[in-house]
Amino acid sequence: MKAIIPAAGHGTRFQPVTRVIPKEMLPIGSKPALELIVDEAKSAGADEIVIVISHGKELIREYFKDDPSIRFVYQEEQKGLGHAVMIGLEALENLDASPVLILLGDAVVAGCNASAAMAAVSAANGGAGVIGLERVPREKVSRYGIVRLEGDRIVDLVEKPSPETAPSDLAIAGRYLLDGRILEFLRTQEPGKGGEIQLTDAIRRMVTTSHLSPFTFHLYGYIYPGRRQDIGNPKGYFDALKAMGENE
Ligand code: G1P
Repeated sequence: MKAIIPAAGHGTRFQPVTRVIPKEMLPIGSKPALELIVDEAKSAGADEIVIVISHGKELIREYFKDDPSIRFVYQEEQKGLGHAVMIGLEALENLDASPVLILLGDAVVAGCNASAAMAAVSAANGGAGVIGLERVPREKVSRYGIVRLEGDRIVDLVEKPSPETAPSDLAIAGRYLLDGRILEFLRTQEPGKGGEIQLTDAIRRMVTTSHLSPFTFHLYGYIYPGRRQDIGNPKGYFDALKAMGENE
């Protein structure tokens, strides 16, 4: 399986340390957070990993340089998560309908291998796409992509809705297993929330317009059992150290 880890963000919520250390390289025990994410991808079956970085984050490249399963691509401009994923997908050859795992580089999961659990859900549903979810308090829905489920199926997604308009309290939680044909939807995706090209918007088009295409993209929502920790800010990082420490 192929995997993409977007890690190009500038770490503005974690300055000043991120001027010299990318947030993804902050240690959790004896390993950088990003290595835990790489380990998660590999044990879920990933054998080809593309990490999307930006200039100034060469420490990441240096650290993983001896790993033949990892390649790097640069996102030259900060145009959003959807754009970073598109660049990562373009670096993977012969993708077409192959499943691609996407693991956000600033989200570590304590207590389970979220990607492996999602791969099992996909396998049990004929290779369908799966998005890892978590329940969030209503007043915080505007920080996340929020989904509408019908049974286990995701039928709609909205990036950072207001609490009044959010379709549920189920948030996208940093892990995706998607059909590689998401690339075509990303290439034609207009900027959305915050003027950025949003992955959520492209997935929404893939799911809600697939009845118009020769392919139907089934997408399942799965609340994985572990706890996602956002290491993009100091509070989240302290929580991650605590949560990961408890699992040692
Ligand atoms: C991104 C996604 C969002 C998701 C979140 C956490 O937002 O756009 O849909 O809920 O990660 O996985 P960001 O935290 O980059 O603003």
